[in-house]
Amino acid sequence: MTGKAIITGGAGFIGSHLAAGLKADGVSLVLVDDLSTGSRDNINGLLDDRCLFVHDKADHALADPALMRGVGQVYHLAASVGVQRVIDDPPAMVRNNIDQTEAVLAAARRAGASVLIASSSEVYGKCPVLPLREDMELVYGPTTASRWAYGLTKALDEHLAIDMHRRHGLRVVVTRLFNTIGPRQVGHYGMVVPRFVAKAVDNEVIDVYGDGTQTRAFCDVRDVTRAMAELIANPDCFGRVFNLGSDRRVTINELADRVIKLAGSTAGKRLIPYEQAFGPDFEDPTHRLPDTARITQAIGFKPEIDLDQTLAELITLRRDHLAAAAAPAGGAN
Ligand SMILES: NC(=O)c1ccc[n+]([C@@H]2O[C@H](COP(=O)([O-])OP(=O)(O)OC[C@H]3O[C@@H](n4cnc5c(N)ncnc54)[C@H](O)[C@@H]3O)[C@@H](O)[C@H]2O)c1
Repeated sequence: MTGKAIITGGAGFIGSHLAAGLKADGVSLVLVDDLSTGSRDNINGLLDDRCLFVHDKADHALADPALMRGVGQVYHLAASVGVQRVIDDPPAMVRNNIDQTEAVLAAARRAGASVLIASSSEVYGKCPVLPLREDMELVYGPTTASRWAYGLTKALDEHLAIDMHRRHGLRVVVTRLFNTIGPRQVGHYGMVVPRFVAKAVDNEVIDVYGDGTQTRAFCDVRDVTRAMAELIANPDCFGRVFNLGSDRRVTINELADRVIKLAGSTAGKRLIPYEQAFGPDFEDPTHRLPDTARITQAIGFKPEIDLDQTLAELITLRRDHLAAAAAPAGGAN
C-alpha cells in the first residue's frame, strides 16, 4: 500500500500503533494531534520526511488545503477518551467529539479522501443482549449519569458519517472499537489494563470497581489497527458500521487475577464500590461482547495476539521502564 494518509489523534495510543503499521506498509503520513492526552514520545521514533507531525486541533489542521493535498485516507481517531475524562468535563467532551468529527468529514469530502471513524462500543450503552450486533437498538441510561454522554457523542459521530456517505457519496467506514489494549496505553484516564499492570508490577493492591463479575473482551491494538487499514481499503465497507474487537471475554476479577499471576504480585486485589470510585450517579454496563460476524465476513478478521501475550508484554515493558527510571543518569566513568 502506498499514498498519503492523515491520522487525527496520531500521537495517541491507538493512533501511534496505526501510524507504525501504515508506515511499514509504505504510506506517507501526517499525524495530527493536539497532545491533550497523546504524547510526542509515542511517535518520536516514527517521525521523518515521510511521517510528519502537526501539533494542532484536527478541525484547524485539516482546514488547510495544502495539508490535505494528495491525501487518500483520513483515519479520525482524535477524541476525548476515557470514562474519567468524560465525567470530569462532559461539555468539553461533547464539543470535542462531535464538532471535530463534523469538520474532519467535511475536510475529507473536499479532498476526495476515504475516511475511517473510530467509534466505540460505548455506543451500545447498556444494551442487555449479548453478543452486541451492529444493527441492535441502543440503550442509554438517564442524562443524570454523565458517562452515557460519551457513547451518545460517538453515536452522533456515526450519524454524521453515515449521512455524509448517503448524501454526498463520502467513502466512510465506521469502526466500533471494543476494549483495545497494548503498549503505550495509559492508565490515568480510567483504562483498566494499564492500571492493573502498574499496580501488580509495583506490588500494590489492585482496585477492582464494582463486584468484579462484569465482563469485557480485550483485543491487542496491533490486531485492531491492522483491521482498520483493511476496512478502509475495501470499497464494500463504505457506508457501514463494524464492531472491532475480540470475541473472547473475561470477568474483571479474572483479568486482575491473571495480571497478578503473570506479574508475580503478592499484594492481591480488593473491590471498590462504583459509587466510591466515580460518584453517586455512576452506571457501568455489566457485560460487553462484540458480535464479530460482520467484520469476519468483510475482511476475515481474526485477532492473532491473545490476552496473556499482551499482558506479559505490558508487564515486561513496565518493569523495563521502572528499571530505566531507577538507573543512574549518564554512563560509568
Ligand atoms: N482504547 C480503547 O479501548 C478505545 C475503545 C473505544 C473507542 N476508542 C476510540 O479510539 C480513538 C483513539 O483512542 P485512544 O485509546 O488511542 O486514546 P488516546 O487518548 O490515546 O488518543 C486520542 C488522541 O486524540 C488526541 N486529540 C484529542 N482531541 C483532539 C483534537 N481535537 N485534535 C487533535 N487531536 C486530538 C489526543 O491528544 C490523543 O493523542 C478515540 O476516538 C476513542 O474514542 C478507543
